[in-house]
Amino acid sequence: MADKYELVIEMAKRRGFLWNSFELYGGTAGFFDYGPLGAMLKRRVENIWRDIFVINEGFYEIEVPTIGIEDIFIASGHVSGFSDPLTECQKCNEAFRADHLVQDVVTNPDIMSADELTEVIKKNNIKCPECGGKLGTVYEFNLMFNTSIGPGSKRKGYLRPETAQGMFVDFPRLLKFYRDHLPFGATQIGKAYRNEISPRQGVIRLREFTQAEAEIFIDPRDKTHPKFTEVAGIELNLFSHEAQEKGESQKMSIGNAVANGIIAHQFLGYCLARTYQFLIRVGVSSGKLRFRQHMKDEMAHYAADCWDAEIHSDRFGWVEIVGIADRTDYDLKSHSKQSGTELSVYVPYDTPKKIQRFAVKPDMGVLGPKWKGKAGKIAAALKALKAEELSGDHIELTIDGEKITIEKEAVTFETITEDVHGENIIPHVIEPSFGIDRITYSILEHSFFEEEAEVEDGEDDKKRLVLRLPPEVAPVQAAVLPLLTREELIGPANDIIKKLRAAGILVAFDDSGTIGRRYRRNDEIGTPYSITVDYRTLEDGTVTIRDRNSMKQVRTGMNDIANNIYDLIYRGKPFDKAGTIVK
Ligand code: ATP
Ligand code: GLY
Repeated sequence: MADKYELVIEMAKRRGFLWNSFELYGGTAGFFDYGPLGAMLKRRVENIWRDIFVINEGFYEIEVPTIGIEDIFIASGHVSGFSDPLTECQKCNEAFRADHLVQDVVTNPDIMSADELTEVIKKNNIKCPECGGKLGTVYEFNLMFNTSIGPGSKRKGYLRPETAQGMFVDFPRLLKFYRDHLPFGATQIGKAYRNEISPRQGVIRLREFTQAEAEIFIDPRDKTHPKFTEVAGIELNLFSHEAQEKGESQKMSIGNAVANGIIAHQFLGYCLARTYQFLIRVGVSSGKLRFRQHMKDEMAHYAADCWDAEIHSDRFGWVEIVGIADRTDYDLKSHSKQSGTELSVYVPYDTPKKIQRFAVKPDMGVLGPKWKGKAGKIAAALKALKAEELSGDHIELTIDGEKITIEKEAVTFETITEDVHGENIIPHVIEPSFGIDRITYSILEHSFFEEEAEVEDGEDDKKRLVLRLPPEVAPVQAAVLPLLTREELIGPANDIIKKLRAAGILVAFDDSGTIGRRYRRNDEIGTPYSITVDYRTLEDGTVTIRDRNSMKQVRTGMNDIANNIYDLIYRGKPFDKAGTIVK
């Protein structure tokens, strides 16, 4: 029997959600096209993400090139460290992730070196899964696609493996945009590229995919969140370090998890909560969602604490769809070093702090006449001296490469108390990183149902395929169905379509086959509401609206149809308030 993945993908291909890319030429693993319905579904998911993170959190969206110059990825660590262990079959040349091949014989292959993996493959006599051939020595394969910028291959470039770097590289500009004030966040939704070794998980592992990422720059001395109380009561299915040792996730409120030190701090907890709300809103099933904490040895090189939102898929088991990390100051420090530009924020204190400072005062009356043109440089060098450098009988300096001796009489020094009004700090970064393609697939899988249904208006097949998508993400939001293909019914149907389109609702017209058959066709693509125009419409101006989930119908006036449908889709209006229930 076909598993759910096969059923979903079969429907997705047939109805225009997902297609294998380059199908005409035989296709290539790791690439998928979104057909008309898939592209619309994905766009709606992205727009809900924007609603939460851009509009409600205030993290403006930026857009930077998908090609980056080499400096960026040297600083980020991707040039030296963004790789997976690869082994090739000596017989059929097929490539494999070595850590995946050994996962049944060792407990933690992710942290093994290439040499260790080679050893495990040898010792356990692991062969090529395709042809049974001998596997070659394991080596680290960098996952970035590289290219050259301009003719003549003079300048190396890479297709970005994450959108995040754009926000780090633009940090000085963003800081000015946000008027030098922490915390602030910036977001990006765009393509990322990873030359995955052997993407055999369909849409789950792509070589080109869409990320939606927020980089939130915060003061490292204060990781509380001003809106934490809004989310503290939300209960999540947490698979913490401790829970992983026990082998079972636990339901816990975010407030408790932070208070008990399970989630490192409020800011991270807040991001987990907003992630949860987003995923539920777009249609991920809450019973198939958990938040898994990275084990210490699994964490990315830059992270201090990291949680993955994982969904359960019938075929793939638990799959990461979002990574939420405290990236600390790793990225800003690395880019600062690589670019030679200080990337910090001046943070004023609420009240000035008194500090004691050792101060050297050069006597220009002595230095000037003796050292003339050099006196200024000497004075500056003297001011920079520390107390211990002034302990001898005289002071040795090197000015413009020349060693000179200064008599002690030329300086006085003392410890002074000063008011300090602020300090330069390097912000820490909290990053929720969403894989939009995996989320879109999860929504399809979690909302796909094959069920027995009652017979409806001429449809005698009891089997119903239905996508129980939240109305807000459904690609087609309403179907308008004239009972018969007759001019007198098509006229009002077109009026309704016009009204719905003017309200920004995507609507489909369908007049072929029985009404029952048309309902089923729309159920399968998740259209939440079907509006039927019949002969009573001509008498009293009313139509029926059928609800996809319950298959119930209401009768309502067509004049206000656009508001009515809009409220059902976007304002949570209960279906039985949309008209008079048809018995
Ligand atoms: P995995 O361990 O599954 O390879 P990852 O840990 O490398 O994932 P991240 O680097 O944290 O993933 O990327 C952030 C998000 O981007 C992931 O949660 C996922 O949704 C998405 N993502 C990463 N790699 C891919 C891919 N090859 N195809 C589709 N989505 C991806
Ligand atoms: N920006 C996080 C990741 O893509 O790994």
